[in-house]
Amino acid sequence: MIVAPSILSADFANLQSELELINRSQADWIHVDVMDGLFVPNISLGLPVCEAIAQHTTKPLDIHLMIEKPARYLEAFKNAGASILSVHYEACPHLHSVIQAIKSLDCKAGVAINPHTSVQLLEDIINEIDVVCVMSVNPGFGGQKFIENTYNKIKLLKEIINDAEAQTLIEIDGGVNLENGTCLVTQGADVLVVGNFVFKSNDPLQTIHDLKNLEMIG
Ligand code: DX5
Ligand code: ZN
Repeated sequence: MIVAPSILSADFANLQSELELINRSQADWIHVDVMDGLFVPNISLGLPVCEAIAQHTTKPLDIHLMIEKPARYLEAFKNAGASILSVHYEACPHLHSVIQAIKSLDCKAGVAINPHTSVQLLEDIINEIDVVCVMSVNPGFGGQKFIENTYNKIKLLKEIINDAEAQTLIEIDGGVNLENGTCLVTQGADVLVVGNFVFKSNDPLQTIHDLKNLEMIG
């Protein structure tokens, strides 16, 4: 299980100490949400903040681009420190070519899908995708309620990945906690993005530890 705390829920006025906390934790990646106020109704952070995060983290940067025409900025985010770069299916009419561009930068290629987007739409290119980020809330804000239909999507996506003998990881983003985490792992999730549940908890280190040790049911 890969655990990726989402920096969107951190205290932005104390980013360095928040990152140092994550460095000391068992987290695998650090998830960074970039929003442009167009693709999603919120504006979060951009290139200079990604660069600053990269300077203070020991974890790979998993950058989630919630922006229109993301191909314009792939190289810039790679230079800002990205290890994994995810673009939205809904923002890319030429998704195959965007994935190739990400890989040519030596980043892992991620494709994020909104709650209304069917996983079957990725069937023809599943072997090209390193990570599918299944949005379990509508993108734009942390602290939202988990959408239950996500379980069905994971199950179907796992079948598509297995049928294609692909190595694609399934990442779940939005409203993840210890309660739904067990079901998510059981259904086949490989990566859990966790914002509020980690940063607003009394003991983030312990919370990350508990998420790392989730066990499948049955
Ligand atoms: C939502 C973002 C998520 C968010 C998750 O648009 O993509 O990464 O930070 O935060 P929580 O876990 O609080 O839902
Ligand atoms: Zn995200």
